[in-house]
Amino acid sequence: MSANVWEERYQTGDMPWEKGEASPGLVDFLAAHPELARGTVCVPGCGSGHDVRAWATAGFDAHGFDLAPSAIRLCREKTSGTGLKNAHYNLGNFLDDKPPQQFDWLSEHTLFCAIDPGRRDDYARAASRWLKPNGQLLAVHYLIPDTEGPPFGTTREEVIQRFSPTFELKEDWVPRSYQNRVGLERMFWWTKKL
Ligand SMILES: C[S@@+](CC[C@H](N)C(=O)[O-])C[C@H]1O[C@@H](n2cnc3c(N)ncnc32)[C@H](O)[C@@H]1O
Repeated sequence: MSANVWEERYQTGDMPWEKGEASPGLVDFLAAHPELARGTVCVPGCGSGHDVRAWATAGFDAHGFDLAPSAIRLCREKTSGTGLKNAHYNLGNFLDDKPPQQFDWLSEHTLFCAIDPGRRDDYARAASRWLKPNGQLLAVHYLIPDTEGPPFGTTREEVIQRFSPTFELKEDWVPRSYQNRVGLERMFWWTKKL
């Protein structure tokens, strides 16, 4: 979908992905890993910014990017008054833009399933481009069968096949999920190959 179509969905309130809270799998991951060095994080397709604020609350320097201006406006509204100085938001196209910097972490959640499936190799290339060498990719993928989307489904096998050329898989597991996604999500923790 084009930037205009995403923007229109925000303007008309057609946002079924908006759950009012960060991905439960991400929240649990951050709680389980207090030992991680507090580096920079990119959250592409950040929507209203819940995951950006989860990373920032955990002490990371978190940067959300979205191509819909209304999403970025919502991010800023929801962050004002939280006291978080390390949650940043920018308008940007993850697939096509040159990254403003390379990040230590990339945090995927419902962007891979939102883009045209014909651009999935572009997504994997972008993930590599936006990350530092040895950077880490933490992804919550939506394992649904849908071919008419967004959201467009994927499988564990496809995720492994798309990302293995440039990333080393550390671990994958079934996370805690929003009520309407229980059993439909899988998390993957990858390190970018040198
Ligand atoms: C399904 S929503 C998910 C939002 C958020 N991750 C969440 O889970 O609440 C997909 C988001 O990705 C944004 N988006 C779609 N294509 C994008 C692209 N190429 N670059 C950056 N953002 C994009 C849309 O505007 C939308 O906010």
